[in-house]
Amino acid sequence: MSDIKSPSRYTITAALPYTNGPIHIGHLAGVYVPADIYARYLRSIGKDVAFVCGSDEHGVAISMKAKKEGVTPKDIIDKYHAIIKQSFMDFGITFDNYSRTSAPVHHKTASDFFTTLYKKGDFIEETTAQLYDEEAQQFLADRFVIGTCPKCGNEEAYGDQCENCGSSLNATDLINPKSTITGTVPTTKETKHWFLPLDRYEDFLKDWISKGHKDDWKPNVYGQCKSWIDGGLEPRAVTRDLDWGIPVPVEGGEGKVLYVWFDAPIGYISSTKEWAARESKDWEPYWKDKDTKLVHFIGKDNIVFHCIIFPSMLKAEGSYILPENVPANEFLNLEGNKLSTSKNWAVWLHEYLVDFPEMQDSLRYTLTANAPETKDNDFTWKDFQARNNNELVAILGNFINRVVVLTNKYYDGKIPATGSLTNFDAETLEQLSKYPEIISTSIERYRFREAGQELMNLARLGNKYLADEEPWKVIKVDEERVKTIMNVALQIAAGLAVLS
Ligand code: MF3
Ligand code: ZN
Repeated sequence: MSDIKSPSRYTITAALPYTNGPIHIGHLAGVYVPADIYARYLRSIGKDVAFVCGSDEHGVAISMKAKKEGVTPKDIIDKYHAIIKQSFMDFGITFDNYSRTSAPVHHKTASDFFTTLYKKGDFIEETTAQLYDEEAQQFLADRFVIGTCPKCGNEEAYGDQCENCGSSLNATDLINPKSTITGTVPTTKETKHWFLPLDRYEDFLKDWISKGHKDDWKPNVYGQCKSWIDGGLEPRAVTRDLDWGIPVPVEGGEGKVLYVWFDAPIGYISSTKEWAARESKDWEPYWKDKDTKLVHFIGKDNIVFHCIIFPSMLKAEGSYILPENVPANEFLNLEGNKLSTSKNWAVWLHEYLVDFPEMQDSLRYTLTANAPETKDNDFTWKDFQARNNNELVAILGNFINRVVVLTNKYYDGKIPATGSLTNFDAETLEQLSKYPEIISTSIERYRFREAGQELMNLARLGNKYLADEEPWKVIKVDEERVKTIMNVALQIAAGLAVLS
């Protein structure tokens, strides 16, 4: 609305959640609520939107959970995929499609993607020494190994990534590595893998991000990217010696699978294909037309994958568009402590929906009002109660309630026509007319907290108008005037209905 040059087709992705546990409020606040607001907004102004997501069902996170529970990875993904999908639906996240990476369409899409890059010579094939657990008799990659991060000193960095400083790592970079399967100190063993030579993409990334997105990406996102690019990029293995994942589809790949961070983002494409097939549409414009705007909603621990690695893959393939923006959020804490699936410190969405079956919007509002857009934030039940009672009920609810009660009482629920407007009426309507633009601008800048505050300001405007005009008093002396007052108040209520 504010941006007249904006395209008409949007592909909006929300990070595919790992199916090693249910969804919690941190996921919602960081990724799914802002993505859903953005998608709903764009649809409401008539844009063509594909809002896609799905379950991330490969990777060591899943294997580990299965090991821990003494079941198969398939048991784990089936269990959590069902819980996650249902809870998103019950909460009202309006994905156009929610897929899963175990779906055949995804295996084929990811496999073909790998093959395409392979045939073009975009990989380096190399035999190197990788960490090996002699006791478990398996290679250790990703979450199967923890150790000290060489960049920041965090003692619990994973073999592929440090969640503390966001660095992407090779398992052999870790200081004092330890197997998370047996607790033993790994040895090394030679094995062949395929590497994406990120160093070849440095110039492209510099041009695209360092020069191209300095001003329109969030400072936290831009800053992380810039420091990686400036620090120099190295080839990254995109295959693993694991038994859970998508088989490496080329000669010599037997017994190996694609690295989960190679296949998962391709899941956005597979999910779009699944949706398009169901809707009898062509998926390709959503990923290949230069006029399509691609936006990835993610948490800050996913920045390197969405801003450096996946774009390099897309660039290598050659026929895809690149993300226009990656509005990553910081983290939400719960009552002062870091949310954690493994430590069971979380408000789980499916459990919240049992305790508060009618209060999706209260949570959505609180998580938006308190969204970790520029820094980590804290969720507390006390704040949730205060936001609900003092804002949703006392400001927005109070205004709507008074307008509806009075309209029913005076006019049998029908909207009265206005008589002549006072200066105050005209000023109030003038202010109302600015809100669509104000809120659109905030949303288009990914400032969802600000958009929510402006919505509440409009409700405040309505309350002030009623308090100043006092229709319940005027009705005794000037029935005609009350029609105008109520008409103005109803216009504000209608504005709130649309904008909320
Ligand atoms: N499963 C990952 C996580 O929870 C996110 C994957 S996003 C995708 O951190 F791009 F790979 F799909
Ligand atoms: Zn670190």
